[in-house]
Amino acid sequence: MFSRARITMMQQLRVAVVGAGAAGLCAARHILARPDTFAPPVVYELTEHVGGTWFYEERTGSYDNGLPIHSSMYRNLRTNLPKEVMMFPDFPFDSQLPSFLPHEEVQRYLERYCQCHLITPHIRFSTVVEEVRPITEETEKGVMTTWEVTSQDKSGSQETQTFDSVFICSGHYSDPYIPSIPGIERFKGKVIHSHSYRHPEPFSGQSVVVLGAGASGLDISLELGRSNAQVTLSHGKPTLPFPLPYGIHQATPVVEVQEDGSLRFQDGAITQAQVLMLCTGYKFSYPFLKPAQLGLEIHDHLVTPLYKFLMPPAFPSLFIIGICKMICPFQQFHCQTQFSLAVLEGSVTLPSQAEMEEEAVKEMERKVEWGVKPRNMLKMDKDQWSYARTLAQMGKFPPLTPVTQSLYEEVWRQKQAHPQIYRHVNYRLVSDTQWEQQDRQAGE
Ligand SMILES: Cc1cc2nc3c(=O)[nH]c(=O)nc-3n(C[C@H](O)[C@H](O)[C@H](O)COP(=O)(O)OP(=O)(O)OC[C@H]3O[C@@H](n4cnc5c(N)ncnc54)[C@H](O)[C@@H]3O)c2cc1C
Ligand SMILES: NC(=O)c1ccc[n+]([C@@H]2O[C@H](COP(=O)([O-])OP(=O)(O)OC[C@H]3O[C@@H](n4cnc5c(N)ncnc54)[C@H](OP(=O)(O)O)[C@@H]3O)[C@@H](O)[C@H]2O)c1
Repeated sequence: MFSRARITMMQQLRVAVVGAGAAGLCAARHILARPDTFAPPVVYELTEHVGGTWFYEERTGSYDNGLPIHSSMYRNLRTNLPKEVMMFPDFPFDSQLPSFLPHEEVQRYLERYCQCHLITPHIRFSTVVEEVRPITEETEKGVMTTWEVTSQDKSGSQETQTFDSVFICSGHYSDPYIPSIPGIERFKGKVIHSHSYRHPEPFSGQSVVVLGAGASGLDISLELGRSNAQVTLSHGKPTLPFPLPYGIHQATPVVEVQEDGSLRFQDGAITQAQVLMLCTGYKFSYPFLKPAQLGLEIHDHLVTPLYKFLMPPAFPSLFIIGICKMICPFQQFHCQTQFSLAVLEGSVTLPSQAEMEEEAVKEMERKVEWGVKPRNMLKMDKDQWSYARTLAQMGKFPPLTPVTQSLYEEVWRQKQAHPQIYRHVNYRLVSDTQWEQQDRQAGE
């Protein structure tokens, strides 16, 4: 790959960043901080703004240019992590704000991050990346890779530019996963995915079956319940270990729509409903990549093999930032970006391609042995902390502070036990190892 000698001999490295959400902004911020090695990045952003997921878009369906709406944000969403652990480690939220924030505050925070780090001039708004293609060349020093990035701006004009590295920061909560439910065409009510859910009012007084009890399914069920919908929360988890408010019932997963349009659940129960709300999550979608060309397999819920959940072993100058689930996203973007830049700078000595492949494959095999389903292979959960430490150690940058893990785990416990009120508490970081709980929010 790139060695220090090569960097000094050649010009600064040119990096393309796909997406100006939290991950893309983080990548741009760290690239701009290293002008000796890197030219200012070119950040491609298909919308007219930064923020990605956090930019609330009232519209559903498509933008004027026909591309699907990116953000899955809904109007009343509040963060499920406190700002003290959600933040980029080097950029705190406003100290006056409560711990759990409405989405507008996260959007403001990302805009401030973008302004403070002078990223905006490097963003090409309303420009969609259509293809990212490796170009390999045999040289005396071995095989060298550059990347052709083809994009189209809103005037329809296409351009191809060459880079030394590409950071894929396009997010993975935009393309709805729609499970196959036999007979779904017979359902007489409305079928909607949480990606297109914005607020509860249209569902007031209606019977709604919510399928899936992840963060969206639970949160949306609670807000539909408060809006006088009759909610059946249909899911395959063990019965939820906390009481649900009046008007919300649990059921096993919907498995079929019958001849008369009623929904049949896994345990044989049957119900009629006016709305089937699919809160079944999202699939990975990288329409601008050709997986076979990169030695990758991209499935609905799995991208493999990726060394350190980041890069195709055959192309360690392509980085997919933030692909893992059940993580503290901004903190992980911060670590992955710094690690990736250290790789490009040559300060991380990578194993051989075969060794990287073996490590990535073994990691997946271990999960299969533990009984993890392919759809859950990229869920990191507790492993995120040792992963972040490894990246910091290899990339020689400061590790995340222990207080982040400790507060994250506390909030996780509270969320499991009290999903309706855990956001009422405020926290404060006292030191790198200690946090404290503050007052409950007034009136709650
Ligand atoms: C409903 C919901 C609630 C969430 N709540 C929380 C929370 O409380 N706390 C938390 O920490 N995380 C939460 N998350 C996770 C959230 O996804 C991350 O916080 C973070 O926003 C992900 O950032 P990202 O940059 O990876 O992706 P995104 O925010 O999705 O940004 C990707 C960007 O890439 C652009 N893009 C995509 N394709 C292209 C292309 N081909 N060309 C050019 N640009 C492109 C998009 O327009 C977008 O701006 C939530 C996610 C969802 C869906
Ligand atoms: N701030 C907030 O309060 C908030 C709100 C919403 C979302 N989010 C975030 O947004 C991201 C996406 O969350 P999400 O809930 O939309 O997606 P998700 O986490 O992928 O959850 C989808 C759920 O649907 C279930 N499912 C899928 N197909 C099913 C089927 N056929 N029958 C029954 N269940 C099925 C899945 O079960 P399996 O687990 O078995 O696969 C999973 O529990 C997460 O990062 C989340 O934290 C945050």
